[in-house]
Amino acid sequence: MAALVIIAVVLLVVVIAVFYLGTLFGSKQVSRRCNRLTTIDGNMPDITAAGSFHEFLVKLHTKYGHVATFWYGKTHFVSLASAKAFKDTNKLFDRPAVLFEFMKPLFGEESIQYASGEDGKRRRHDYDQLFSYDAIKNYYNKFQEATDAVAAKIESLASDEHVNITEYMSLLVLKALSHATYGDFFKDDEKAITMLRHYETTMAILNQDISKNTEAGQRFAEALEAWHDFMRAMIQHRRDNPPSDDDWTFIDVLMAKASSEEELLSDTTGFFIAGYHTTAFMMVWTLYYMCENQEVQEKVYQEIIEVIGKDEQVNHVNLELLKYMRCVFDESIRCSVLAPFAARVNMNADMVVQGYTIPKWTPVVHALGVVQMDDEIWPEPERFIPERFLHENASTRHPFSFQPFGFAGKRKCPGYRIAYAEGAVFLATLCRKFKFQMVEGQTIERKYGFVTIPSNDIWVTVTKRD
Ligand code: HEM
Repeated sequence: MAALVIIAVVLLVVVIAVFYLGTLFGSKQVSRRCNRLTTIDGNMPDITAAGSFHEFLVKLHTKYGHVATFWYGKTHFVSLASAKAFKDTNKLFDRPAVLFEFMKPLFGEESIQYASGEDGKRRRHDYDQLFSYDAIKNYYNKFQEATDAVAAKIESLASDEHVNITEYMSLLVLKALSHATYGDFFKDDEKAITMLRHYETTMAILNQDISKNTEAGQRFAEALEAWHDFMRAMIQHRRDNPPSDDDWTFIDVLMAKASSEEELLSDTTGFFIAGYHTTAFMMVWTLYYMCENQEVQEKVYQEIIEVIGKDEQVNHVNLELLKYMRCVFDESIRCSVLAPFAARVNMNADMVVQGYTIPKWTPVVHALGVVQMDDEIWPEPERFIPERFLHENASTRHPFSFQPFGFAGKRKCPGYRIAYAEGAVFLATLCRKFKFQMVEGQTIERKYGFVTIPSNDIWVTVTKRD
């Protein structure tokens, strides 16, 4: 009996020692769980109840801290919401398809969005060259052309007319982006508008049940075919009208490098969708915050006049000098939580993040929006204060505190330079000519999705400047 007691005590001591040393020197398994007992839909009911995936992540991290887990259906995810945790996963390249699965019928199986490993890296290497600082120098003139046309349209309106900036900015980004990245096929408005119609039709059906043999499924297949026919016509136009050497653009590299027609169609579609929606709403939010904060609008105007005067166009050189304008874009992106999350999966080995072991194959969410609204990093996070991004105020912040374009595995958004360049051309041109003011009586809230959009159209009045 005494021997048994001694053995039991020794075992207990060993267990306690292993546990204690383990937590001191080893790493913990991720344990901050937000589990549901059912494995069929996991935390899906909580995501629905929260109103959106971003709002679910806010609740999750408020309750469980910077590293937390949840069930996305049958898939067990880890979500990260701190700059340090982001840094620990900075080398991950592969993206888990499951979060983005519902867009697959539109993007296509072969889209860059779902590409992993060597194939994904090869494609990013090829495409990124067309989004470099040097490569986008050519785009500024096309952005300017589109902006001048929209500015002329605004100028022709009566001074008390209410202008829907969601509509105007969407049209502007659509024209500028399609012309710059897909070439002269989009020189006139008609083609850009046709593309928008195809996109809106397919997106509207995508939100319904499009499984095979359903009526919506049939309509989706037809809409997708029409979209692809349109893209094929654009590609054929480029083949028939090849650009000069100094006018190569994104579509030329896609056509030269894509390994199949399916890949070509997928990436033509994917880059358009990824670039159009995000940049259009970056502009909508920026104008909205500038209307709500007239003193900011005045500072932007003063900077434009000081740096480029009344006539000079924005280009790749003077863009760098418009520092306050850049702060305004960044604060608009932060305050609107424009792109709330990104995701990765660690395919190679278990990894340790802030002391927690994340097993191999576990998908990881980067809760970018949760960190952008963290009041320990951004005091009074709901207030729009562009000065937060001035060098003297930003230099003490952890660089991973603001990563609205993602960051990991050299797979940051390829279009981020285009977004800032396009935005600067638009804002410099429009702010020099006009003063924007909110039409009274509107309540605008954030409506979260992959991209955060305003809850309603935003209406403004426009006054000409001298
Ligand atoms: C303000 C504007 C934009 C924002 C906030 C934004 C945000 C993002 C984010 C968060 C990601 C995911 C990155 C990751 O997985 O770590 C992404 C990916 C992507 N973005 Fe953007 N984006 C913007 C503009 C653009 C533009 C203008 C283009 C193209 C012209 C573009 C094309 C893409 C593509 C193709 C991907 C997927 C890349 C891949 O899978 O490797 N984006 N973007």
